[in-house]
Amino acid sequence: MNPLQEYLEEQASWFTEQLPRFLPRDIPERLLQSMDYSLRAGGKRFRPILLFSVLESIGKSRELGLETAVAIEMIHTYSLIHDDLPGMDNDDYRRGKLTNHKVFGEGMAILAGDALLTWAFYLLSVLPDFHPELSHATSLLLIRKLAEAAGPTGMVGGQALDLEAENKQLPLSELEKIHTHKTGDMIHFSAMAGAILGGATTKQKEAFSTYARKLGLAFQIQDDILNIIGDEQKLGKRVGSDAQLGKSTYPALLGMEESIAYMNRLVDEAKKAIQIDGIEREHLHLLADYIVHRDK
Ligand code: IPE
Ligand code: IPE
Ligand code: MG
Ligand code: MG
Repeated sequence: MNPLQEYLEEQASWFTEQLPRFLPRDIPERLLQSMDYSLRAGGKRFRPILLFSVLESIGKSRELGLETAVAIEMIHTYSLIHDDLPGMDNDDYRRGKLTNHKVFGEGMAILAGDALLTWAFYLLSVLPDFHPELSHATSLLLIRKLAEAAGPTGMVGGQALDLEAENKQLPLSELEKIHTHKTGDMIHFSAMAGAILGGATTKQKEAFSTYARKLGLAFQIQDDILNIIGDEQKLGKRVGSDAQLGKSTYPALLGMEESIAYMNRLVDEAKKAIQIDGIEREHLHLLADYIVHRDK
């Protein structure tokens, strides 16, 4: 295994081992099964790993970010459950398994999403109980920033624009706006949460912010690319669906070659952005490279 794979696998398996502890107790059995099904279905855990990597890059332990990473993964997972519903992208496979609504029915899939979304905020509200060194002010700040990144000003807003843009040819600026919100904002939050929890300096926060913005956009461009040239088995989800749904994507607008070049440029710029004092960059560079090399 190369260092990148080794690093990602170790981080992802540690996170996935810890995850079940944070599920709510004494809730309707089928609801729990439905939430657990999609959370456990795997996925790359890119956002949690990004948060951990930012923390470690400023000399803090990943444990400090565990609950926040769980909250992020819960919201991300809810967004995928809803994204796959017939009223949205209407997909049958996700993370190598049948989509949530295919197993539990549409009603329960909607509720599992609602539950994951709500519980994420609960976890952030009790952060000082897990880590006495964290203040209620920090917990509130994270709640506010997560609401901005996940809700109408962030991911949900981006999903709304994405939905409305079906079967339309968009200008590049509009497509960039969709990608920035639907995917970029949660990736940005993941990095900034690490910076906030770890007590980064203002300069470091600015550097992480630029890094994560570029990473987020590159991540969605690769998602667009893999929807054309990716392997369904590896990705664990359908390919060719963007074209079928008439989605505007980078390859559709810029062509494949230019999209790849643009993504590479973004990743290089991301790496440059964190070249400042007090950031141990090795793993953050690996994560940036991963975006370009990933095949799932
Ligand atoms: C898929 O996200 C949806 C996008 C926002 C591009 P990921 O590619 O991170 O999906 P998982 O979590 O690994 O399944
Ligand atoms: C999903 O975007 C982004 C979310 C916020 C869920 P896509 O619809 O492009 O992602 P995939 O390809 O289904 O994972
Ligand atoms: Mg979608
Ligand atoms: Mg989709």
